[in-house]
Amino acid sequence: MTDGITRRRLLTAAALGGTALTAGGWAVIGGSLTPSQPGLLLRSQAPLPRPYAVPLPVPSVLAATRSSGTTDVYEITQKTARLRILPGLETTAWTYGGTFPGPTLVSRSGRRTVVRHRNELPHPTVVHLHGGHTPYGSDGYPTALILPRGGTASHTDGTAGMPGMAGTAGSRDATAVERTYTYPMDQRAATLWYHDHRMGFTGPNVWHGLAGFHLVHDDEEKALSLPDGERDIPLMIADRAFAADGAFRYPALDAAQHTPGVTDPYMDGVLGDVLLVNGAPWPVLETQRLRYRLRLLNASNARRYRLALDPPPPGGGGLVQIGGDGGLLERPLAHDALDVAPAERFDVIVDFSRYRPGTRVRLVNRLGSGSTAKVMRFDVSTARPPADDSRIPDRLTAIPAPQPERAAATRTFHFQRHSGSTGWTINGRPYEPGRPLATVRLGISEVWRFVTDFHHPVHLHLNHFQVTARNGRSPGPYDAGWKDTVDLRPAESLEIVTRFTDYPGRFMLHCHNLEHEDMAMMADFITE
Ligand code: C2O
Ligand code: CU
Ligand code: CU
Repeated sequence: MTDGITRRRLLTAAALGGTALTAGGWAVIGGSLTPSQPGLLLRSQAPLPRPYAVPLPVPSVLAATRSSGTTDVYEITQKTARLRILPGLETTAWTYGGTFPGPTLVSRSGRRTVVRHRNELPHPTVVHLHGGHTPYGSDGYPTALILPRGGTASHTDGTAGMPGMAGTAGSRDATAVERTYTYPMDQRAATLWYHDHRMGFTGPNVWHGLAGFHLVHDDEEKALSLPDGERDIPLMIADRAFAADGAFRYPALDAAQHTPGVTDPYMDGVLGDVLLVNGAPWPVLETQRLRYRLRLLNASNARRYRLALDPPPPGGGGLVQIGGDGGLLERPLAHDALDVAPAERFDVIVDFSRYRPGTRVRLVNRLGSGSTAKVMRFDVSTARPPADDSRIPDRLTAIPAPQPERAAATRTFHFQRHSGSTGWTINGRPYEPGRPLATVRLGISEVWRFVTDFHHPVHLHLNHFQVTARNGRSPGPYDAGWKDTVDLRPAESLEIVTRFTDYPGRFMLHCHNLEHEDMAMMADFITE
């Protein structure tokens, strides 16, 4: 308790004093907390596995069960599965189709993708396609549950009497075990991901395995000759903690999922000490001396990463960013390191021909320490590679310049700790389904300003946006291109230009630190 109070005082001090949130302040509180980490480390009780001992798994691509001229139909059963993540132990996971990550969906821009989810888990779920330009009825509103077989909605699930909840057939059916999500895929090539979004329980559900990739391709991207096939690899980076028997460890207030949230010390966020890439601890990928496209996703509940190659290639700039959350950047951007907040995606090309044959290149996390400072390793082949037919063009796509001065409105959203009680708020309000914080007209640009007290990765549903200012200055090095999630550090402010299109309805604006999200840091906005 004292711990909680102390942290609250510090937050208040930070909010008042601008950048007064010092490294020293945070280090004292959490013990294992570092200033760049939004959360508290939950240690594994199982012995940590040896790093670089297992090959990188690549999630399999899901085959359509049916295709027509316009539409591909997929089926996914959500179920518990016993996975081998740690050597000699089994981990019971909540999965899409029996694997973690779930199977990768691959869509063509402009072809409708229909995904029918069946829930065989012991509790309700919701599926959201993160980064999808999706109509309201399929967007995974947090109370639009898929009920488990034989289950019933309890009053805390909040579906009863919700306005506008009839968007998808079956949403009011208390015995529904299936829900069909329809994605028009009227959007650019991009790395999307799907994950659970159940009201109050997104944190535990994702932590236990409910996340997967959904890639969108289009002709523009295809014409660029970027590395593809076996050399286009999605990397889902996530930290976890394990109990002595191999189970996922998570500090839920209520494992039976009636009361949302985590125990007080973990309110800032839950950090694990094992880093998984595509579900495997600190894996290794054997690479040819060729260019690879790596689609980096931070699927962690709360952890931020500063990813870098160690050693860097001669001359540096080894992580050549070609895309972000919403697809291709205008031009490639070479980075030595990438700061990646939860839910952000960075699409990078790494040219392993810049390394000597046989080099072992580690992907490291400069915001971590000990076990969390390493992520995975690339072992560069000694074999002579075939000729590289890929390239990185100087110009990737056209992105219209944002015009904040022509915006129809400016709105400010404060992301802050709830004063005087537990929980997190936007503009002082804990989330209440059906109460919008904004109503916006489709097709109209607005400036949205986000202001923080702590680390908050802010995410918008429905459309990607562009960052126009950070702390009153130019956008930061990781703000380029179309974004759907932005990394805000303590006492920062950020301006974006929004323009929502096509679909009237009720959409979400929220913090993607999943502990904050579950503890009420969400809001609805309405498009009309
Ligand atoms: Cu990835 Cu509303 O979330
Ligand atoms: Cu989303
Ligand atoms: Cu937050």
